[in-house]
Amino acid sequence: MIEVENVVKTYRRGTTDVRALRGLDCKIAGQTLTFIVGPSGSGKSTLLYLLGSLDQPNSGEIRVQGRTLSKMTRKERDAFRRHEVGFIFQNFNLLGNLNAIENVLIPFLPTGVTIDQRKNAQLILERVGLGQRLDHRPHQMSGGEQQRVAIARALMKRPLLVLADEPTGELDSESGAEVYRYLRELREEHGSTVVIVTHDRTHILPTDSLLSLRDGKLA
Ligand SMILES: Nc1ncnc2c1ncn2[C@@H]1O[C@H](COP(=O)(O)OP(=O)(O)OP(=O)(O)O)[C@@H](O)[C@H]1O
Ligand SMILES: [Mg+2]
Repeated sequence: MIEVENVVKTYRRGTTDVRALRGLDCKIAGQTLTFIVGPSGSGKSTLLYLLGSLDQPNSGEIRVQGRTLSKMTRKERDAFRRHEVGFIFQNFNLLGNLNAIENVLIPFLPTGVTIDQRKNAQLILERVGLGQRLDHRPHQMSGGEQQRVAIARALMKRPLLVLADEPTGELDSESGAEVYRYLRELREEHGSTVVIVTHDRTHILPTDSLLSLRDGKLA
């Protein structure tokens, strides 16, 4: 489903180059939970950004279901991010001027939201325990609650690909287990491919896939 071929990503910091990915090759099978692990600075978040087409590699190719990301037009890339990828990231999950229910509906806002979609968004927010937070904006919610809004948006969108960066980083163990229940549900019920960066291996099952990064390459 995802093929990463000889991907190099270098960030410029002042006068020095930071080589975040140094010729990474890997494959991620469809409809799996794939965990990306590795030491801090090994390039895990960088890889997720590239998979979600939020950033571009310096060289190399990434193909998602046969489509080469670097060959997409701007319009195709926008559509890919909007409709096919669910992002569960710590920092730029939510739009600050939108409330919880609007944040869940972001992918549908440009074409107009139907009454059914709005109802569905509300049901999903209730399911993730945010029934009392529907009209709260991100700054009125805790980190864990914001994370759950992002999960609700992914559940609403049913994306081809779900990208999660430390999805349980700020959560207690019970809420963390719940997040994993939803991530697994996305795979099982909607056939999503779920890629998760984490330091915490407690939620990895023997049937999941594991990619281990070190210094910008597969370890
Ligand atoms: N925007 C940026 N500008 C410059 N350097 C960056 C940038 N983003 C990441 N880096 C550097 O690239 C390398 C890989 O970073 P990345 O965020 O992918 O690591 P990571 O594996 O996600 O680490 P962590 O587990 O700490 O989140 C690091 O050395 C980091 O300092
Ligand atoms: Mg990271």
